[in-house]
Amino acid sequence: MVSRGALKLSEFCSIPPEKLPNGWQILGDVIIVKVDEEYKREVGEALLKMYPKVKTVLRYLGLEGDMRIPKVEVIAGSGETETIVRENGCLYMLDASKIMFSKGNIEERRRMSKVGNGEEIVDMFAGVGHLSIPIAVHSSPKKIVAIEINPIAYRYLRKNIELNKIKCMEAILGDCSKVTPEGEFDRAIMGHIYLARRYISKGIRALRKGGILHYHDVARNKEEVKEIIKRACEKERRGARILEIRKIKSYAPKRYHYVVDVEVS
Ligand SMILES: C[S@@+](CC[C@H](N)C(=O)[O-])C[C@H]1O[C@@H](n2cnc3c(N)ncnc32)[C@H](O)[C@@H]1O
Repeated sequence: MVSRGALKLSEFCSIPPEKLPNGWQILGDVIIVKVDEEYKREVGEALLKMYPKVKTVLRYLGLEGDMRIPKVEVIAGSGETETIVRENGCLYMLDASKIMFSKGNIEERRRMSKVGNGEEIVDMFAGVGHLSIPIAVHSSPKKIVAIEINPIAYRYLRKNIELNKIKCMEAILGDCSKVTPEGEFDRAIMGHIYLARRYISKGIRALRKGGILHYHDVARNKEEVKEIIKRACEKERRGARILEIRKIKSYAPKRYHYVVDVEVS
């Protein structure tokens, strides 16, 4: 089926709507689109016409490695890729050619803006602050420690703390498996779907008794994620009470991105 987006885009180029992408991601004044090599130039130019305020169109080619660095190619516009995303009252400066910012996680970022009053929180895979800046902006945490291993993302994380005028947040450049303090937090966020499983023990150890872990993972079903958490808590000799499991998005055939909120006693 041809989407409304493709139909609209077909007004700006001569490619038949069924050959056009159904959607694209708008990050500030940069667009990221999945498009075939054959049509990339024309689609890029058509998107620039459709969105006159956009300065660059990037072709999305995937994400690379544990740092989740996007592989992209400039297909239209000036080629400038630093931009500011405005979402839910928060500002995120980032370079769209070097940093991922998943639109699919928007509901989770909104949800996270309602937790954490008076708490000490650690964001173990902070990126540019996707999940912790909303907490700092909309709630009143006592302290947030945001850990990021990629120096480029870390630079934007610091910039975003400043841009959002946040006082309670400290950014650390480092590997969360080595630098996360133990037993100091009321809440730990593990927002990396590939590494959370490997490092879950670090998230559990970061928590005080009764602390909450937000654990992200890709699994076939809820039972599979519940089992991982149960086993990891048993190994650490900690109790686990699952508070909520939410499906964030479909990830691959029969595989879903879940986030689990678990109280660790
Ligand atoms: C997937 S991104 C952030 C996603 C974000 N939480 C969201 O919801 O869109 C994960 C981040 O974790 C960082 N990262 C990867 N390994 C890490 C580690 N061992 N310690 C700290 N940060 C790490 C990556 O560089 C990347 O910026």
